[in-house]
Amino acid sequence: MSEAITSVLEENRSFEPPAGHQGYIPSLAAYEALKARFSDDFDGTWGDLAGQHLLWREPFTRVLNREKAPFFHWFEGGMLNVSENCLDRHVAAGLGKRTAIVWEGEAGQVRRISYTELLADVCRAANAMRELGIKAGDRVVIYMPMIPEAAVAMLACSRIGAIHSVVFGAFSSLALRDRIEDAGARLVITADGGSRRGAVYALKPNVDEALSEGCHTVRHVLLVRHGGNEVPTVPGRDIDWHQALNVQPAECEPLAVESEHPLFILYTSGSTGKPKGILHTTAGYLLWSRLTMCWSFDFNPAEDLFWCTADIGWITGHTYSVYGPLCCGGTTLMYEGVPTWPDAGRIWKICEDHAVSIFYTAPTAIRALIKAGDEWPAKYDLSSLRVLGTVGEPINPEAWMWYYRVIGKEKLPIVDTWWQTETGGHMIAPLPFATPTKPGSATLPLPGIDAAVVDEFGHTVIGDGGLLVLRQPWPSMLRGIWGDEKRYVDTYWRKFGSRYYFAGDGARIDEDGYFWIMGRVDDVLNVSGHRLGTMEIESALVSHHQVAEAAVVGRPDELKGEGICAFVVLKGEFTEGLAAALRAHVVSQIGAIARPDDIRFANSLPKTRSGKIMRRLLRDIAAGREITDDISTLEDQTVIEQLQQRV
Ligand code: WT7
Repeated sequence: MSEAITSVLEENRSFEPPAGHQGYIPSLAAYEALKARFSDDFDGTWGDLAGQHLLWREPFTRVLNREKAPFFHWFEGGMLNVSENCLDRHVAAGLGKRTAIVWEGEAGQVRRISYTELLADVCRAANAMRELGIKAGDRVVIYMPMIPEAAVAMLACSRIGAIHSVVFGAFSSLALRDRIEDAGARLVITADGGSRRGAVYALKPNVDEALSEGCHTVRHVLLVRHGGNEVPTVPGRDIDWHQALNVQPAECEPLAVESEHPLFILYTSGSTGKPKGILHTTAGYLLWSRLTMCWSFDFNPAEDLFWCTADIGWITGHTYSVYGPLCCGGTTLMYEGVPTWPDAGRIWKICEDHAVSIFYTAPTAIRALIKAGDEWPAKYDLSSLRVLGTVGEPINPEAWMWYYRVIGKEKLPIVDTWWQTETGGHMIAPLPFATPTKPGSATLPLPGIDAAVVDEFGHTVIGDGGLLVLRQPWPSMLRGIWGDEKRYVDTYWRKFGSRYYFAGDGARIDEDGYFWIMGRVDDVLNVSGHRLGTMEIESALVSHHQVAEAAVVGRPDELKGEGICAFVVLKGEFTEGLAAALRAHVVSQIGAIARPDDIRFANSLPKTRSGKIMRRLLRDIAAGREITDDISTLEDQTVIEQLQQRV
């Protein structure tokens, strides 16, 4: 058992929520009451919430249609528009002057965009996209740095019913090409470049490279000038974003679409095959983005400044940098740059300068900040903070305690949120002013969410570890995998006969009903809160001409949570510098987040008699742990020694 898990199992501290503040859900009793409402009338309660929180053009006639389970339909008959919900209705309510987005660049530049301005930009972008022939249902790939134009592009898609697919800017051109092709995108929106560590990195050349082969559906590239770096353009195909928007009117009638109209596709890694395009639709996703802003963060749009540090290339950036805060009519902060640039105080400086009140980040960032030292947060006035959130991987109690003590001054609630790309928004999280917290536990399922821990047969397990499942559908659930219905059913619903959604995580429920997430039970790695499939990295390695076979496993990493260890069998002789070359190869195939930390070479890989790679054995070797597997049946015993050798 890893040290992190042992310490979680021994954790018994508990902290009361801060007193004196009435949150949306002000007490555990109120939480229980809301839960009871869901048990009494599941559909009716969801229906009431959807009616109250969203602006509908046509009211829905049915809350939940389970007839085609596990393909669930929410809010049938309803018509609405996401950008209208995020923009027009706030302007109409007299909030046009309120800041929607505060953006800070790495060099310290600041832009403040009001709701009125954002609406105008979104309308111009939507008109420009229409002029390029983009219609409802068309796919638009967004490959951009963390700049307001990225949010404008997302909202503009929703305004005309186009489906966006944001690809994280650090993914390679090959990874980008795969996604463009799988989605069948008609348009790519990108920027010349972005800022990182005081320098400009180029994005547009990756788009050119991606489009140099295949990608026949792409007609145009909209190019935002931001980095100022020289980039080649293709006449007729490439169009300057600002020029295109400038000639457009600042009004664009929002297209009302059905509740289940696709809003976006977001690619994420699975245990097998290529990344899957997770499909989210309109009404349910938007409802839950807004409700979880209220419930988990106690977001008050009139007063709070909300900062989620995630890039919009991930689901966290979608739901909590863009849709959640804007659907509530509040202010969201976007920062483009490295959080520790020019020094480890940058995050806290931003919190002070903008008076951030709700801060949401990942355990990997917290661990890096701990390492940098307590003197950095001590330099800044953090008194505006009132809620601290974390997401992406299990948070070790030590990191939790530091967040609580050093940043929260033992006064602020720590909101550890468990969820996934597939769930659209938080599933298990404390209510900041109601739920007592325990370091390392995401605490209790949110109202309306039926989470449980079960054994292989679907029987509830209390006290011991088991598989985390969701036993009822929820509005922001994925609606499928783009272009692959079978994979959707197989991955999430096959295991428990279409009754339970299988999350792929292991978890334990303690005597208070608190959930302790133990991490993935499949071949998915979580590296710095980024999800990667071992098979994806293996395929990347095997595509190198000198590699015959490869196996990739995770190993505990103090900062990143999990590190990547690759075991490689070569076709020919080992050559000097091969490990570095293979690392670079993986980076070019997938992106820098997939770079192996450790590569080891051997004549063969340890396999069972039936020919399966002994992954648990490899994980033990990678972590430098004692080997527990029976290796007496291995043909070549020396392989183990070879694999234990670092290059
Ligand atoms: C996987 C989902 C949800 C946005 C970021 C990641 C792990 C996520 C927690 C948490 C323990 C967590 C799980 C999950 N995870 N949040 N609070 N505690 N583990 O989204 O890339 O879809 O990854 O991240 O293993 O399955 P994702």
